Amino acid sequence: MHVLITGGAGFIGSHLCDALLAKGHKLTAIDNLVLGRKENIFHLLGGNDFEFIEEDLLHEKAMRDIFKNGKFDMVYHLAANSDIQKGGKDPMVDYNLTFNTTFHVLQYMKEFGVKKFFFASTSAIYGETYDVLDEDYGPLRPVSNYGAGKLASEAFISAFSLTYQIQTWITRFPNVVGERFTHGVIYDFIHKLQKNPAELVVLGNGEQCKPYVYVKDLVAGILHVVEHATDPYNVYMLGSDTRTKVKEIAAMVIEEMGLEAKIKYTGGDRGWAGDVPEFRYDLSKVNRLGWKAAYTSNESVRLAIQKALGK
Ligand SMILES: NC(=O)c1ccc[n+]([C@@H]2O[C@H](COP(=O)([O-])OP(=O)(O)OC[C@H]3O[C@@H](n4cnc5c(N)ncnc54)[C@H](O)[C@@H]3O)[C@@H](O)[C@H]2O)c1
Repeated sequence: MHVLITGGAGFIGSHLCDALLAKGHKLTAIDNLVLGRKENIFHLLGGNDFEFIEEDLLHEKAMRDIFKNGKFDMVYHLAANSDIQKGGKDPMVDYNLTFNTTFHVLQYMKEFGVKKFFFASTSAIYGETYDVLDEDYGPLRPVSNYGAGKLASEAFISAFSLTYQIQTWITRFPNVVGERFTHGVIYDFIHKLQKNPAELVVLGNGEQCKPYVYVKDLVAGILHVVEHATDPYNVYMLGSDTRTKVKEIAAMVIEEMGLEAKIKYTGGDRGWAGDVPEFRYDLSKVNRLGWKAAYTSNESVRLAIQKALGK
């Protein structure tokens, strides 16, 4: 297949590029590098089956040419805003990068007759709840502009899938960790400790408790779902059903860096407005499809720290 991947120079997108090429697909990756990095895909540049195009998905003329020339069989849409705090300060960020990129990609697919679509969704569409989250959970009440942008995306994807017969796979990830990350709690802690090895300032009280999944595990899960789920419209939770507290992550980062830093908590039950202090996943649907993460949440966090430190 000739596959188009958006956000291909991003954290998860670059790993998905590796995995799709290993499966023998021809790949075009698009990214405007607003959050992604060319280093993430340097090793792929110049390869016969790989093409990278630096472009903004919202540039309609350029994107129409790319779709016209590419004759893609499938689109994996991963481009979005991944800086949730920034999106909280300026709602236009998630309106444009998280929602409008999706809407534009759907429009290009309709216009150029692309019939297979994968979408990277998120736990953030559920909002704040202590219930166990599964595919049918509701009502969905996002508390961040990012979550709202993803939920609005899912609504249009549903309508486009049905109206224009686009076979669709949506997977909802929790926190994803691993090498090449561009953001997130481990990334922040390592950078803070590199600046000040004596003290780590942790946003919130450290009790925030969420599932973390190792990026290569997640990518294997994405491909498993796309290869094995055969309905016209497929929605799956993907990740880990175990969880890790932020204070455990802080302790692991300090230990792996060989430091004796003091931890200072800023207080409150969450890191920032729009942060969800805790959630958990029910993964029975994807387990029945034959996929389970190889690593627990704690193992994923530990592995991601070690990879980030070059161990
Ligand atoms: N990392 C996580 O924990 C996590 C959790 C749930 C869902 N997701 C979703 O997975 C996807 C990948 O996330 P990630 O962590 O790799 O983030 P990332 O920021 O590393 O990747 C997103 C990429 O999209 C690109 N992009 C944004 N707007 C664009 C535009 N207008 N045109 C072209 N490219 C554009 C960015 O430059 C970036 O490279 C996103 O859709 C994200 O919402 C991530």
